[in-house]
Amino acid sequence: MSRLGNLSSPLDSQVPRHIGIIMDGNGRWARRRGHPASFGHRAGVRAIKRVLQACEDFGVHALSIYAFSTENWARPRAEVRALMRLFHETMQREIDEMHQRGVRILVSGRRDELSARMRARIDEAMALTANNKNGVLNVCLNYGGRAEIVDAVRKVIKDGVPESDVDVAAISARMYQPDLPDPDLIIRTAGEHRVSNFLLWQGAYAEMLVTETLWPDFGADDLRAALDDYASRIRRFGARPDSEGSSPLGGEVARSAGGAR
Ligand code: IPE
Ligand code: IPE
Ligand code: MG
Repeated sequence: MSRLGNLSSPLDSQVPRHIGIIMDGNGRWARRRGHPASFGHRAGVRAIKRVLQACEDFGVHALSIYAFSTENWARPRAEVRALMRLFHETMQREIDEMHQRGVRILVSGRRDELSARMRARIDEAMALTANNKNGVLNVCLNYGGRAEIVDAVRKVIKDGVPESDVDVAAISARMYQPDLPDPDLIIRTAGEHRVSNFLLWQGAYAEMLVTETLWPDFGADDLRAALDDYASRIRRFGARPDSEGSSPLGGEVARSAGGAR
């Protein structure tokens, strides 16, 4: 993605290629203002736009956002309906601008459980932006990490993969977005220290960052702070960095620029 010349950006090698965000806290944000959760979800959409722009400015290529989990159907019907309406409306409203900016839209999750209307929007957005190269926005909608692994295993069986060939690569190739690199950093807003079924497979070696900021308040400054924190991390991927003894992989592997894939 393009860089802002006058903004101090983190060093290239320390910028995550792919960030995942568990966008939590919309309900609390709305409640504090005496409004229903749907008010917070609308403010949450504005935060997505800010953060996508900040990713572009800071040189983060791919952003995965957790928009609706396979467990979120358990919420009150009115909230689920308002959320689905918001996703549909937002996709319709924002798609042309995303396309003009060269952003590729991906949608991950069990699509067959969404309405026909929503599926049509998703297909349209993905087809329109399929060849864009400036960045990737992966919207995790009706997404669950466990469901994704179950779906990948089903594909393995359907493809007739012999047992001896079932390995990490065989499963990874059958995840929803096999071409996306694993997330280097997963951010959760609103203070909860849990994964809530997000990118269970791909996040095996992601750096985790929890911030107290509620998602509708999250902006470029918060992302910048998260990137600074990330840049200070030592990623070991299970190996031992040079300073602690001999490493068969060499010290560079442990630096944050390394990826699990
Ligand atoms: C996250 O915000 C958005 C979705 C799950 C769709 P919440 O709605 O979970 O916000 P809190 O946790 O109630 O504050
Ligand atoms: C995770 O938030 C799901 C999304 C952000 C879409 P939740 O609010 O649903 O997670 P829990 O219930 O606090 O674990
Ligand atoms: Mg929540």
